[in-house]
Amino acid sequence: MASSEKTEVDPREFRNALGCFATGVMVMTSAGGSEGLIGVTINSFSSVSLDPPLVSFCIADSLTEFETLLETDHFALNILRADQQELSNQFAKTSPDKWRGVAYREGANSAPILEPNHAVLLCTKHAQYECGDHYIVVAQVEDFEYGDSEPPLLYYKGQYREIS
Ligand SMILES: Cc1cc2nc3c(=O)[nH]c(=O)nc-3n(C[C@H](O)[C@H](O)[C@H](O)COP(=O)(O)O)c2cc1C
Repeated sequence: MASSEKTEVDPREFRNALGCFATGVMVMTSAGGSEGLIGVTINSFSSVSLDPPLVSFCIADSLTEFETLLETDHFALNILRADQQELSNQFAKTSPDKWRGVAYREGANSAPILEPNHAVLLCTKHAQYECGDHYIVVAQVEDFEYGDSEPPLLYYKGQYREIS
């Protein structure tokens, strides 16, 4: 169906249906532009290709830094730990203080790497596609870190979950 076509799908019910797909939780971070650091909680992540190593995620056109993100080539995808629910909430709310008290270091591609994290992918944008009220961003993974012993944060039916 073309992205411009409207459907009769109830938005609340549609969200409920999508919530049946359990995901991890990430914070996409970027050095941003003149406005400073960017951080957005996302769960629309998907692996795309092994060779080349490509992943994708979606960004809403309502994001405060949406225009900057369309022009941003380098970012980090920080996979959160189960004990980072508050951090996830902090990066999911519109606020000029999103980065207050957040520990991070600069990655090789200049994107902020949250400390600690469950794992992190350092990415360069490969492509982006307008799709409805979101853009699909396809990114090439240039480097990654993993091995944290804490379990990951999960999201299911609109609530945070942990592996039990
Ligand atoms: C668990 C979770 C997953 C989210 N996933 C996405 C996502 O994949 N894409 C997106 O654009 N927004 C997603 N959001 C919403 C954004 O995090 C939120 O709209 C944004 O951080 C608002 O801040 P801003 O006004 O600074 O852009 C998610 C929120 C939560 C809590």
